[in-house]
Parts: sequence; C-alpha cells; structure tokens
Amino acid sequence: MTAVTPARTLADEQAVAQRILDHIDHHTTDLSEHTWREPVANYRSTERFERELAEVFRRCPTPVCPSAAVSAPGDYLARDVAGTPILVARGRDGVVRAFRNACRHRGVPLADGAGCGRTAFVCRYHGWTYGLDGALRHVPDGYGFPDLDPAEHGLVPVRTEERHGLVFLTQDEPAHHNDALDELAGLIPPDAHLHGTTQIDIPANWKIVMDGFLEGYHLRATHRQTFYPIQFDNLNVIERFGRNSRVAFPYRRINKLREVAAEDRSLDGMLTFVYHLFPNVVVATFPLNLAVIVHEPLAVDRTRTITYTLTRVAGDDAEGQAALKQGLDFADEGVAEDREMVRAIQRGLASRANEHFVFGRFEGALTHYHRQLGSILG
Ligand code: FES
Ligand SMILES: [Fe+2]
Repeated sequence: MTAVTPARTLADEQAVAQRILDHIDHHTTDLSEHTWREPVANYRSTERFERELAEVFRRCPTPVCPSAAVSAPGDYLARDVAGTPILVARGRDGVVRAFRNACRHRGVPLADGAGCGRTAFVCRYHGWTYGLDGALRHVPDGYGFPDLDPAEHGLVPVRTEERHGLVFLTQDEPAHHNDALDELAGLIPPDAHLHGTTQIDIPANWKIVMDGFLEGYHLRATHRQTFYPIQFDNLNVIERFGRNSRVAFPYRRINKLREVAAEDRSLDGMLTFVYHLFPNVVVATFPLNLAVIVHEPLAVDRTRTITYTLTRVAGDDAEGQAALKQGLDFADEGVAEDREMVRAIQRGLASRANEHFVFGRFEGALTHYHRQLGSILG
C-alpha cells in the first residue's frame, strides 16, 4: 500500500513569487469572483454577537495562544476566551491542557495573567490545591467534606489540541472542524521563542479589527508614510484553506527575485504572509519575527487584541535584537494607523448610513470568512 500524501492547498513559494511578479508586471491583484454585501447589523447586533460566541467560537477549534507562550512544564496563562475564564497550563508530562478557570469549591479563579515554574495551582480563598493536570490534590481540613470525591472535583477540562505550534480550544460540544490546519505545518519554527506579549483593548467589534488585516486595498491611503514606501498598494495573493485564508503582502524588494531562477526563488524577507485562522486569529510573518494576534471579543463593540511575538533571534545577540526592535517599532507605527481606522469605522456604525458594507473583488479574504460565519450561523 502506498501512503497518500494529502494535497497541499496553499501554493509553494515559487508559485507565489511568480504570481506576485506577474501582478507587478500587469498592475493586477488576485480577484475573487464576486463582491460581497455584509449587513452592518452583523457588526452591531448584540444577539448576533452572542451567537458568534456560542455557536462559532465555543464550538470550533479556536487558537488561544502559540505553544511558545507555554513552552515548558509549569508554564501557564489565564485569560477570557470567548467570554469564558480559561486557564492553560503545560503539565509535567509536557502536555498542554486547558481548564475552566474556577475553583471547584466556590469558584475563585486559580490564576491570573501568565507565569512559569508552577507545580500546582493553590486557590487563594481556602487553599484547595490542583495539579498542573487539573487533579484535586489537597483540601485543607478535609474532614469538613466527608462525602467529597476528589476524582469528581478536579478542574473542569476544556478540549485542547496542540498543533503546528499553536494551542487550540473547543469549549463546548464540537460542531465545526477547522479542516486544513495541516497547511500550517512549518509556519512556526519549533525553535522560535516568545519574545513578548502585548495587549490592547479596542472600542470596536472584533470583525472590524479582523477585516483590516485581510486586504491590501488600504495600503496607500492609510499607510502612506509607513508601509506604502516598502510595499505595494492593492497587490496581494489571496488563498483559502478550509475556513482560513492566507494573504501575501509583498515588499517592493521582491523584484530582486527576477534575477533568480524561478525554481530557486525563496520568499524569505520578501513579503509578509497574513494567515487568518478562523475565526479570530492572525499569524503574520516578518523578516525577523512572527506575530500571533488573537482578537478576543469582549463585547459587541469591544475587542481585546493580544499579540504574541515569536522570534528565533537569540536574547544575547545584541545586533539581532536591535534589528528586531527596529522591525517591531516600524510595524507598530503601521498598526497604530490601522487601529485609528478601526475606531473610526466603529464610530461610523452609529451613523446608520449603511445597510451593508461592500467588499470588493480584491477583498476576497474578508468575503471568505464572513461567508463562513454566515454559513454556521444560518
Ligand atoms: S473557593 Fe477555592 S478553596 Fe474555596
Ligand atoms: Fe493596514
């Protein structure tokens, strides 16, 4: 019997390079077949927001953080995921597990923020103690609970899967697969470590924040002094894999690849790939780092953006660190411009000027995920 290698959906580097060079030559970009009209009510409706959380976020495998954020046994992080307080921890056996972040006695969360070197979680209220695997290990003055079965009072686990350098959670009964995740193989190098984590709350619906990452149509108008001098306006390769997408934003220096034989071309340092992992996560590639960006919906008009920066640049490589900092500062400038637009769109919703937003044919990655949301929510 011969092993069957699943066909890759995403194009290889050489094919992407060729598509970009052709677009440069012809002043074109990838186009989807149709435009799309997204009802503005879908950005404003609290009912729709609640359904997105309950029927999409909690029932799809949703990326919660990169593996590098909990790389060693005893590493943990706690935060709300789709409205649920969640605790993620790597056990002594090296397995990442997630739990509902609440003590089984009277519900106090067991951890806040992130940290390392834990051997147990001790509740700060009465001291119930849980292992990294969630098992209830100790109850102070246990004689007061004669009927308590510790086996039934471990932390409540949440379905967790670690794949290709990311940790995925499915909180409730799984209803939707995110097929095609194997396309992420090799995206996050196993030796990339966590450089830092930042967090910002943005007064906008999570889909407005998400939309801005997935098209290059705004590049010249919004990023005139930042990204536009080094990147092309409205010139992207847009691919779909399952419910997800990948959008390539080439740098102008990619023209140098014309001097390289087509079969030898490498995209290293030639573009930013933005992977959209359905529903709310972006993985963006840069010459010296990767950003795993989680858009955590807090309310219909509020989103917490958590950015995990991963790099292979060693901490003691002074020159590398300086270059990394320069790159991160530069990206921050552009990201601030995006956030300004996001806030503006959210304010504009109140105008009730638009019944729908229209996505152009080069905004196909937006169309793809809004269609996916619509197909799940009906
Ligand atoms: S609430 Fe945690 S020990 Fe009482
Ligand atoms: Fe932008």
